[in-house]
Amino acid sequence: MLIISIAIDENKGIGYKGQLPWHLKEELAIFKKNTIGKNIVMGQTTYDNLPRRLKDRHTVIVSADKNYTTDDPEAEVTYDLISFLKEHENDEEEYIICGGASIFRQAYPYAKKAYVSFIKKEYEVDTYFDVFDLNDWEIIEEEDHKEFIYCLLKRKENV
Ligand SMILES: NC(=O)c1ccc[n+]([C@@H]2O[C@H](COP(=O)([O-])OP(=O)(O)OC[C@H]3O[C@@H](n4cnc5c(N)ncnc54)[C@H](OP(=O)(O)O)[C@@H]3O)[C@@H](O)[C@H]2O)c1
Repeated sequence: MLIISIAIDENKGIGYKGQLPWHLKEELAIFKKNTIGKNIVMGQTTYDNLPRRLKDRHTVIVSADKNYTTDDPEAEVTYDLISFLKEHENDEEEYIICGGASIFRQAYPYAKKAYVSFIKKEYEVDTYFDVFDLNDWEIIEEEDHKEFIYCLLKRKENV
């Protein structure tokens, strides 16, 4: 199963100058809880901009550069995202799609669940999750935090 994990502001903004536009400790703690021990998938840009490697997770880095490799023992590289998504969309095992924008956009139609933090503010951003439409999803769980609302979403049937 493919699951999207994202934090999104009031204008569907998700990034600025290659980084997250915000620093929300509580939100990062939820990301950690949801991803620890799991397979996570992220684009090369997002991976290369991480302040440090994400331990105790198996990371699949998506790159179009066939010369791109990693020495991270917990990571592998895939050069063909769409084949990867098609291969794993019906797996029992979970693959959590962690961005960035280009990866979210392509993975959106394949994801059956989503962990979404709706941040209660507009930030200065240059990157959006524009394809996201809350009408595609049923809200399964909702937690109100000071700076964001965290939701577990399940894709509606036939969407
Ligand atoms: N708010 C959040 O939850 C969140 C989470 C993660 C990241 N972000 C933000 O998102 C921004 C980065 O997004 P981004 O779109 O620039 O970069 P990205 O999605 O992280 O990575 C893009 C990389 O993936 C490659 N790629 C894309 N599609 C591919 C495919 N189908 N097959 C093989 N390789 C493929 C691209 O190659 P080419 O360039 O050659 O196409 C490029 O190297 C940052 O600002 C980051 O902070 C936000």
